[in-house]
Amino acid sequence: MSQINAPIILAVDTPQLQTAIDWVKATEGVVRVYKLGLEFYLSFGLDGVKAIRDHTQSDIFLDLKLHDIPHTVSGAAKAISTVKPKYVTVHASGAHAMIEAAVEALPETLVTAVTILTSLSEADVAAVGFKSNALESAARLAELAVNAGARAIVCSPLEIQAVRQSVGESTQIITPGVRPAGGTSADDQVRTLTPRQAIDHGANLVVIGRPITNAWVDGASAMRERAIAIAREII
Ligand code: C5P
Repeated sequence: MSQINAPIILAVDTPQLQTAIDWVKATEGVVRVYKLGLEFYLSFGLDGVKAIRDHTQSDIFLDLKLHDIPHTVSGAAKAISTVKPKYVTVHASGAHAMIEAAVEALPETLVTAVTILTSLSEADVAAVGFKSNALESAARLAELAVNAGARAIVCSPLEIQAVRQSVGESTQIITPGVRPAGGTSADDQVRTLTPRQAIDHGANLVVIGRPITNAWVDGASAMRERAIAIAREII
């Protein structure tokens, strides 16, 4: 089977464990990382994560967006350390001590800080109490997170360059909200770039879900072909 290993994180967004496993089997070797979110984790827990691990050599991205007092985040991080995720997300707005607690609890994991959720409008950002706009706030939060030990940042594709300036070259930048060139649907994503543009702007990895997983209705081969076609845009 072809090993393309493109810098794609596949968002495994399905409420069914068997479907998640089937998607992993269908795309193994094409994408580099599998992202399991809160819905997956709350439904299937550590056993579900282990079931995915058993079907792939690729890395696991646990998108739990932890945000609590440092002691609680430390405990949560220790609880998931047994499944050895390569990436675990925390909210950068949890601030220095919280991020540091996650980093200390997960020495083998790249603690990944989420900056400003792309679902927030500028009005939301102001209403929450941020003094600067989303772009500046994201860049500042990224810098704070990296100073606390985070080794990857999630941001909007439109923030990649500003975040890169804040965090330097050794931090991974990961962006969702990408849509392939020539694709037919943006789904609910609004301000998108293509995967190629995101990589050209300096992203290390792009998160892609439905542009690949929607092909599942046509079978495993169709899904693999879709993933390969998107991978070829960026490698
Ligand atoms: O299907 P789609 O490609 O839109 O999936 C993108 C994935 O990235 C989903 O799992 C979504 O929750 C996640 N995500 C996002 N925008 C953010 C943060 C995460 O789309 N700002």
